[in-house]
Amino acid sequence: MPATVLVGTQWGDEGKGKFTDLVAKEMQLVVRYQGGHNAGHTLVVNGETFALQLVPSGILHDHITPVIGNGVVVDPTVLLAELDMLEAKGIDTSRLKVSGNAHLIFPYHQEIDRLTERRLGNAKLGTTKRGIGPAYADKAARVGIRVQDLLDPKIFRAKLDVVLKEKNQLLAKVFNRLPLDGDEIAAHYLDECRPRLEPHIADTVSLVHESLERGEHVLFESAQATFLDLDHGTYPFVTSSNPVAGGVCVGAGVGPRYIDRVIGVAKAYVTRVGTGPFPTELAISGDAVGGKDRELADDEEIRLGDHFVDVGHEYGTNSGRRRRPGWFDAVMLRQAVRLNSLSELAVTKLDVLDALDTVKVCVAYDIGGTRHTHLPYHQSDLHAAKPIYEELPGWNTDLTEITEKHQLPPTAEAYLAFLEEQVGVPVRLVGTGPGREQFVHRGD
Ligand code: GDP
Ligand code: IMO
Ligand code: MG
Repeated sequence: MPATVLVGTQWGDEGKGKFTDLVAKEMQLVVRYQGGHNAGHTLVVNGETFALQLVPSGILHDHITPVIGNGVVVDPTVLLAELDMLEAKGIDTSRLKVSGNAHLIFPYHQEIDRLTERRLGNAKLGTTKRGIGPAYADKAARVGIRVQDLLDPKIFRAKLDVVLKEKNQLLAKVFNRLPLDGDEIAAHYLDECRPRLEPHIADTVSLVHESLERGEHVLFESAQATFLDLDHGTYPFVTSSNPVAGGVCVGAGVGPRYIDRVIGVAKAYVTRVGTGPFPTELAISGDAVGGKDRELADDEEIRLGDHFVDVGHEYGTNSGRRRRPGWFDAVMLRQAVRLNSLSELAVTKLDVLDALDTVKVCVAYDIGGTRHTHLPYHQSDLHAAKPIYEELPGWNTDLTEITEKHQLPPTAEAYLAFLEEQVGVPVRLVGTGPGREQFVHRGD
């Protein structure tokens, strides 16, 4: 009964969408287990680009049942718009199942997310402003409203009225905003969204277990990533869910014994959107929220930072925000191997390094004169960490047409072998371009 987890190992946008689509070929079920429409997963299939936020990336395969698990927070308006977008591109979305236990995102969550960010000023997190944090906060406070509540309008309305009373007080008294109208919200959720969502609402825990019992292959797809994890990431500069592989057990309802393969997706470099510590960060010539001060960098560093942003097209899939770039960080990856029990790595965007004469990998941190090969637990140490790099030769070869392991230039192969040696797990898949066919399978 094999279950596989595919998890981001950095700060998101590693290319999980593309690699879920790739691995999904061998799966029957693809399940999202956390996050919401803060995610942006881009897939390029036959030249056509799909930007997914909520629907699992397995949707593009006819034989797959895509599942939104109980650990996800769902904005029904966004979900329905995404289904419309997919249908317009000829994708059958009728197979999608949504857990009745998943929590709903409401307009007050988005409003509070926006207002909290504004109030924090320079200390803001740079959230996606999609209401993710406030929705998970309500779930934990037990005042959340779940997808299954849509099926009982009376209960839905009663819960909405209770929660809205409190939210409107908060909006008025703390943020000086106008109250939101319960009738309007209820009409939208119950009259407009419910009829379309109803056929998709299911007991997804049973669905997953029945599939596993039939001996089918199930893939659990993370949104966000290890260092955006609420418990293990760079708190408070994190998201409000648990993307780490263990999050599957809670967010989809399976015990750990089912999981026998954990694929960590890592970019051949690192990016981050939003604020928070980033030891290997490079300055760029443009602006990015939380980005490194250009005054601290020389021209060569800025040239490299710009290279990653420009060649890697490092702009948010949905928000369009410029991502902060940096060199590959093996210290972080070692921690990601531990936190997720990674069995293998998929290294994406290797082609973005094609034109560089040399490539650097951070192998340890210098913190106050002491060498650290593992992540310090105290965040102040992480802020003070100076990367210790090893520099390797580049390959100066266009990798974008390469599909076989033996075609990889020896220096590119040496770079991958170096990463394996540094982090202790094999690199099985390598991304050589955004397209579905642009990858190399390095071995089993
Ligand atoms: P996700 O959030 O982890 O799914 O990643 P995103 O989709 O937000 O960002 C990854 C970006 O890189 C997307 O634009 C992908 O199309 C693109 N991409 C994925 N793999 C590769 C690769 O191997 N090479 C290149 N050049 N682009 C890639
Ligand atoms: P995918 O799945 C990159 C970041 C935000 C912000 C922090 C908290 O595409 O990899 P939130 O809106 O979740 O409360 O924001 O987390 N963030 C992401 N960064 N990729 C993502 O998703 C992200 N989802 C959230 O930028 O710093
Ligand atoms: Mg993304």
